[in-house]
Amino acid sequence: MSPIQACLFDLDGVLVDTAVYHYRAWKRLARELGFDFTEEDNERLKGISRMASLDILLEIGGLAFNENKKRELADKKNEWYVEYILQMDPSAILPGALDFLQACRARGWKTALGSASKNAPVILRRTGLSPHFDVVIDGNKTSKAKPDPEVFLLGARELGVEPAACVVFEDAAAGIEAARRAGMRCIGIGSPETLREADRVVPSLQAVTVDGLAAWLQTEC
Ligand code: BG6
Ligand code: MG
Repeated sequence: MSPIQACLFDLDGVLVDTAVYHYRAWKRLARELGFDFTEEDNERLKGISRMASLDILLEIGGLAFNENKKRELADKKNEWYVEYILQMDPSAILPGALDFLQACRARGWKTALGSASKNAPVILRRTGLSPHFDVVIDGNKTSKAKPDPEVFLLGARELGVEPAACVVFEDAAAGIEAARRAGMRCIGIGSPETLREADRVVPSLQAVTVDGLAAWLQTEC
């Protein structure tokens, strides 16, 4: 297997805990539409695009709308979500994330963001994470959402690194599938039950070191 030359990171749930804000905003929309939306339902929305998330939400509520109305609902959810994320600051960065990003650079590995979110620029700015990436690919630069591999393939291309020399960090099943379809190795962040397809699963970036990762991938993958 190729030695690691680059690490690609999902944003929501890997570097920052924004899942709670997505959940709050979707729940508020569901309440307005007259049904309940649970934390368990929210798991199905992780990693997928805003419009695909809305489709799942409406399916849960047993509702159907035309495209114009759906766009209006998604915009409304996003306005609430943006209100929440505008309150974020560097304290929202998840444990271990900053240290790991810095360690990657120190080891000579390139770093990229590979996120489905169109709000990634706001989050990167509010948390001060921007300078830690060589390349940023987000929902504004892609046309196909995860589990399509586009976001990670674009990241590798902009970094000038072959997919086989990339490692992806992901907290969502859709993102892990995207990494695998891109031909990249993938570390799941979260629970092994939901991230079964990852090469390895850890509870957070706090549990990973660059030396440990390099050694482990060389022997196992
Ligand atoms: C992903 C989140 O990172 O971004 C999803 O896990 C979200 O929950 C998706 O739907 C799109 O985000 P946004 O900010 O463009 O609505
Ligand atoms: Mg995520």
